[in-house]
Amino acid sequence: MERTFVMVKPDGVQRGLIGEIVSRFEKKGFQLVAAKLMMVSQELAEQHYAEHKEKPFFGELVDFITSGPVFAMIWQGNNVIAGARQMMGKTNPADALPGTIRGDFGVSVGMNIIHGSDSPESAQREISLWFGEGEAVEYEKTI
Ligand code: CMP
Repeated sequence: MERTFVMVKPDGVQRGLIGEIVSRFEKKGFQLVAAKLMMVSQELAEQHYAEHKEKPFFGELVDFITSGPVFAMIWQGNNVIAGARQMMGKTNPADALPGTIRGDFGVSVGMNIIHGSDSPESAQREISLWFGEGEAVEYEKTI
């Protein structure tokens, strides 16, 4: 079963959107298998955003993601990587459609509420960067 890494960024946490976001993923039928509220170290932020190291906004990106708690999650389900991206909407909230998380709540490209892995390779890399072995829970839905 496919898994992806999803994170509510500091703006989403401070605006009280954790519940709304978790609820949308649950209603879609995806399964939460790991979650934690945490502060992000400078080192983890730089590793997470390594592909943007040369971009002019890299410093801003790292400063923002380390500015307050984030809610890091692993979601599981059929086609969950693309499905999560669809639910999040375009990176820039100005381009994101209403009904998507960024379209409904996003303010700016820097403060865009949520991050989700963009490919199976990213999902694997980000899950192992943010979560240790055994932190994800494998369980069957019984009700
Ligand atoms: P995310 O999905 O977390 O991955 C990279 C992030 O870089 C992206 O969301 C945006 O929040 C951020 N980003 C992209 N373009 C810009 C920009 N021009 N200025 C500031 N941040 C940006």
